[in-house]
Amino acid sequence: MADQPEHYRDGAEQGDSTGGEDRVFERLMASIDPPMFVLTAHDGAQRSGCLVGFAGQVSIRPPRFLAMVSKLNHTYPIAMATPAVVVHVLREGDHELARHFGALTGDEVDKFAGIDVVDGPAQAPVIVGVDWFAGRVLRHVDLGDHVGLLLAPHEGSAARADQSQLGSEDVGDISPGHPA
Ligand SMILES: Cc1cc2nc3c(=O)[nH]c(=O)nc-3n(C[C@H](O)[C@H](O)[C@H](O)COP(=O)(O)O)c2cc1C
Repeated sequence: MADQPEHYRDGAEQGDSTGGEDRVFERLMASIDPPMFVLTAHDGAQRSGCLVGFAGQVSIRPPRFLAMVSKLNHTYPIAMATPAVVVHVLREGDHELARHFGALTGDEVDKFAGIDVVDGPAQAPVIVGVDWFAGRVLRHVDLGDHVGLLLAPHEGSAARADQSQLGSEDVGDISPGHPA
């Protein structure tokens, strides 16, 4: 097919694959530096949050953001059960925060012990001093091992918008608390 060059199809069936297509894709994804976020949520009973690298703006008008949460994460059922979540935008000084939310799991520890937070929309924790926006959850999109939360952004803080981002290249030393 014209849209599937030969070198991109080796060893792979169309659709899901475990062949050369995966290796090309993995290399490409490893070669770019997407920004890091911490998504937090509260389901009325408990709060949770995790480091998220699969996320980004998907519409300008209306403004929409898609954040992907692994079905294995402690955060997953909580994020699925709330009308709004908070997305924090990490900056270059936030490596320890990224490690905290990306390497620990709420299955084993209370990640918010010792973290300065205030309640945001739908009680989602807002980490004090970190840029954030709240997103009303419009839709859940099952994408495979992750579910996308389609968010309508509203209130937040951009006090550190002039600072450099924390990207995936900065957090390569962090092992996820859960397998994806
Ligand atoms: C660099 C990096 C990026 C990650 N991106 C995501 C992501 O996009 N979505 C997700 O659900 N988990 C992602 N994770 C994994 C979770 O942050 C991690 O497994 C965390 O410990 C889960 O916490 P929880 O079980 O308390 O929810 C990422 C981890 C790392 C280190």
